[in-house]
Amino acid sequence: MADNKQTDGTISRRSLIGGAAAIGSVGLAKTVTGAESNPANLPPNVSEWTPYLGSGVDANPYGMPSPYEEHVIRRNVEWLTASAESSVNFTPLHELEGFVTPNGLCFERHHGGVPEVIPSDYRLMINGLVDRQLIFTLDDLKRFPQTNRFYFLECAANGGMEWRGAQLNGCQFTFGMVHNVQYTGVLLKDLAREVGVMPDAKWVLAEGGDSAGMNRSIPIEKVMDDCMIAWAMNGEALRPEQGYPARLVVPGWEGNMWVKWIRRLEFGDMPYMAREETSKYTDLMEDGKARMFTWVMDAKSVVTSPSPEKPILEKGIHQLRGLAWSGRGKITRVDVSLDGGRNWKTTEIHGPVLDKCLTRFTMPFEWNGEELMVQSRAMDETGYVQPTIDALQAERGLNSIYHNNAIATWLVNKDGSVDNVRLG
Ligand code: MTE
Ligand code: CO
Repeated sequence: MADNKQTDGTISRRSLIGGAAAIGSVGLAKTVTGAESNPANLPPNVSEWTPYLGSGVDANPYGMPSPYEEHVIRRNVEWLTASAESSVNFTPLHELEGFVTPNGLCFERHHGGVPEVIPSDYRLMINGLVDRQLIFTLDDLKRFPQTNRFYFLECAANGGMEWRGAQLNGCQFTFGMVHNVQYTGVLLKDLAREVGVMPDAKWVLAEGGDSAGMNRSIPIEKVMDDCMIAWAMNGEALRPEQGYPARLVVPGWEGNMWVKWIRRLEFGDMPYMAREETSKYTDLMEDGKARMFTWVMDAKSVVTSPSPEKPILEKGIHQLRGLAWSGRGKITRVDVSLDGGRNWKTTEIHGPVLDKCLTRFTMPFEWNGEELMVQSRAMDETGYVQPTIDALQAERGLNSIYHNNAIATWLVNKDGSVDNVRLG
């Protein structure tokens, strides 16, 4: 494959697919999934699915992925939690393309299971320091001016198990508490105008209608900036797992604040010091004090391929793929290192690049069977650069769980398998 390299070091398009069969040759070529091909279905033969009519329309009134994609699912780690009702599963980031997460693959995090909310009985109540305490039906909400925006949602605990060392050998399990969909809903500032917010109101308590009664305090500046009540994701009604029929959207801030099955907003003059912002979702520092109200999700990135679930199957040219995001705005640049952070190359970013939204990057690379230590480093429009784990630990110590946005390392072994490792 020496002729793949042009003199300037870039890779020519000419023989990228060195392994593809030349016309006329029939062989037991290994496919990308690792499954053996059946020669009877390969050129110049007529494939077995060609001579017969396929199934008709309505075979699947609500479409499903191909059965050959049945491995592309959310997964949980059974020993992580005592019950499935207060638990989490993970988005299969390594199987996704572009920046949209399909609705059925968005990771779920529930503290009291998924309630079955009857939409005709759904109400959103707004009370507290307002001129008019009002109760809205779903239809009432839909009569307000509509907003459609893509945002990532990341749980503050994403990668939390990795603080002291590499733990779980998977892209899905170490990075998969993030998803990215287009939300349709109403801006909270429009609802605030309707109820009339009193001058003393500085905070809003958002409360869920699930058995966990999840609640969080949100400062009024954020409420009046870009928070939404959303009823749709990626063009369809919210999925029950994601808060059907309505959830709070708090762009760029930790997922815990995005209250699902939202039933009440209370305007007040102080933070409410709820369980989820005092005993949980705080970061215990070395001096025994805890950081609290650490809302913003700082810039972070992940190489989704190669990764533990996406080993390199053969030598030659490959496309490294990954995702980057920042709760502070747009991603401006993502660099990748193949040697554990000694040398960096800037990757190609695939637009549209949106505010507080997953951003896709790719980079071609050639693998000749050597060990690689793959890292990615995201930068955002505020100039923030994703830190190393050493830098993060120097600042926050070793007790933290939440807000681990450190650069991670995938070790590509000589056989092409990939492991999650900690350098240093
Ligand atoms: N809202 C309610 N009512 N109940 C919950 O258990 N979990 C929170 C948040 N909102 C939760 C909730 C947490 S910790 C996260 S990370 C996000 O929802 C997860 O959203 P998702 O399930 O749509 O991925
Ligand atoms: Co969470």
